[in-house]
Amino acid sequence: MRLTTDRLVVRHFTPEDAAAFAAWRSDPEVARYQSWDAPYPEAKAVEFVRELLASDPDAPGWYQYAVEADGLVVGDVGVCLHENGMQAEIGYSVARAHQRRGYATEAVHGVLGFLFEERGLHRVSAECDAHNTPSAKLLTRLGFRLEGRRPENTWTKGAWRDDLLFGLLARDWHT
Ligand SMILES: CC(C)(COP(=O)(O)OP(=O)(O)OC[C@H]1O[C@@H](n2cnc3c(N)ncnc32)[C@H](O)[C@@H]1OP(=O)(O)O)[C@@H](O)C(=O)NCCC(=O)NCCS
Repeated sequence: MRLTTDRLVVRHFTPEDAAAFAAWRSDPEVARYQSWDAPYPEAKAVEFVRELLASDPDAPGWYQYAVEADGLVVGDVGVCLHENGMQAEIGYSVARAHQRRGYATEAVHGVLGFLFEERGLHRVSAECDAHNTPSAKLLTRLGFRLEGRRPENTWTKGAWRDDLLFGLLARDWHT
């Protein structure tokens, strides 16, 4: 997948992106509701990109795409294809210096278009921490429906957290 939107390119990571990837993952604000801990060592980012490049983006499981704006890598969108090939889960991050410019909305919108229109998926899901307001607002803005809340479903950073479950069906995307 390589997508071009008005301001962004959503593309495969390259080894040159590892330093920027480590930098935003090392920001405690970006890591706050995520599974990884900050700081995120650059060596780990190099290994992460190396493994990505050796994996099949179309196989079931998570695959992370880089989001580029003005020639800089500013964030990522992750897609987890289901074993059945008909649905996926998504995740996303944008470096703090590049947030609140509509980049996540634009990148995820582009990826959803690809998943529904090119890949023909039936459904895309997303989960976020119940306190992660920017993420919940982003999903709502893109047409996701809030489908539920799982109390104390995720143990992360020393606490049990509630998760919000969101879903978007192809027929709702098209309308
Ligand atoms: C969630 C996240 C990806 C959103 O990224 P983002 O690029 O800031 O998102 P957007 O810019 O598209 O939208 C954010 C806000 O900026 C606003 N915005 C959009 N364009 C804007 C502009 N040009 N100027 C000012 N604000 C703007 C949007 O309306 C939105 O406002 P709202 O939250 O009040 O509705 C980002 O906060 C992040 O990386 N968080 C940490 C990682 C994370 O938790 N990921 C989600 C895991 S489930």
